[in-house]
Amino acid sequence: MQNDQELCLGTDLAGKTIILGVTGSIAAYKAAEIASSLVKMGADVHVIMTEAACRLVGSATFRALTRNPVLLDVFDEPQSGEIAHVALPEKADLMLIAPATANIIGKIANGIADDMLTTAALVARCPVLIAPAMNSRMYTNAVVIGNMDRLKNLGWNFIEPGAGWLACGEEGVGRLADLSTIVSAVVAVLHGGKKDYVGIKLLVTAGPTREPVDPVRFVSNYSSGKMGYAIAEAAAERGGIVTMVSGPTDLPDPPGVNVIRVQTAKEMLDAVIDNLLPADIIISAAAVADYRPVEKADQKLKKEQGWLRLELERTEDILRRIGEMKGSKILIGFAAETENIEENARRKLLEKNLDLVVANDVSEPGGAFGSDTNIVTLIPREGEPQNWPRMSKREIAHAILDYVITHLWEAPI
Ligand code: CTP
Repeated sequence: MQNDQELCLGTDLAGKTIILGVTGSIAAYKAAEIASSLVKMGADVHVIMTEAACRLVGSATFRALTRNPVLLDVFDEPQSGEIAHVALPEKADLMLIAPATANIIGKIANGIADDMLTTAALVARCPVLIAPAMNSRMYTNAVVIGNMDRLKNLGWNFIEPGAGWLACGEEGVGRLADLSTIVSAVVAVLHGGKKDYVGIKLLVTAGPTREPVDPVRFVSNYSSGKMGYAIAEAAAERGGIVTMVSGPTDLPDPPGVNVIRVQTAKEMLDAVIDNLLPADIIISAAAVADYRPVEKADQKLKKEQGWLRLELERTEDILRRIGEMKGSKILIGFAAETENIEENARRKLLEKNLDLVVANDVSEPGGAFGSDTNIVTLIPREGEPQNWPRMSKREIAHAILDYVITHLWEAPI
């Protein structure tokens, strides 16, 4: 997990009451970092632990970090005369269950209230965020998926777990989401409702493109699409009317976004041109393949002795094409660099006629393709560059939108 001092700099949770539910996943120890980050950001954090969580981490840790009593039993009454499982959820602005086991999700989804946490969760009328953490076979079990879907359909929010090595020694999905992702989800929910993009039309490109060699092979790159998807999602949350042209990714369509899926650079260009006219703001986060095979074989290429030479030709630079026809539209590009970051990014800004370029060092560990976080420098056409600390892609998306709306957007008169 990341150091919380690097997170959400300047984000203020003062005056917010947060219930942190901790359950018996091996990731329970990570809840201490979550509690600590939320407290440092000014929140009044109240921890409720299940019995299983107490076997993994001590309640004294949370008491010390939050300076509040930790609730363990449904009959606990830290304030005499107050029924804690009702009074606490009533005054909470948000309830976060992290880590959440299959057991707690199943109980809540089925209305079982047999301990302090499940009881408080069913009493709560504030937004509830659930960050699952469990073995991948449990997480992908149809019963667990059914329980999560039930809660999602009822409006409960999930912070999807990551994939990787799990404590049980297996590899797969089920790791508790990163600290930065959890904290930014909390911030987004608590500061949600910012609707400063209402009526503004955005066109976003995302993901890689694939340039076919033959029916089973292609030329592409490592882009996961996460940055573009985060921007599209954030803009839609803020009221924007968002169309996203996406290359092939594993990501689900962001809520409220009109998604057009394409494969090749040529298909992306065509879809962008088709949707360009109404767009007020274009954000080009796609990692478009710069070259494609001159010929695509109709049949699978059979291997031969010796070399295979692939002849590649340039694809069209989509952003440069938009730059030539942009008029008064706001045009934002990304620059993926491994050296002379600012200089190369500024050159792209001028050559492609951009208003803003977001430069990132793709050679940085944790600042590269596929990661949930990134370290970027914002270089506007006019004004000073801004070097941002490592942030989650969701935070970067919101921060870019903050910059655009305050520095670049001029509302039509
Ligand atoms: N871009 C695009 N079409 C391309 C290549 C890039 O629209 N064929 C856009 C990207 O979406 C990004 C910006 O141009 O917003 C810069 O992309 P990047 O890959 O960093 O640079 P390139 O222009 O491809 O230059 P180079 O590969 O030489 O760094």
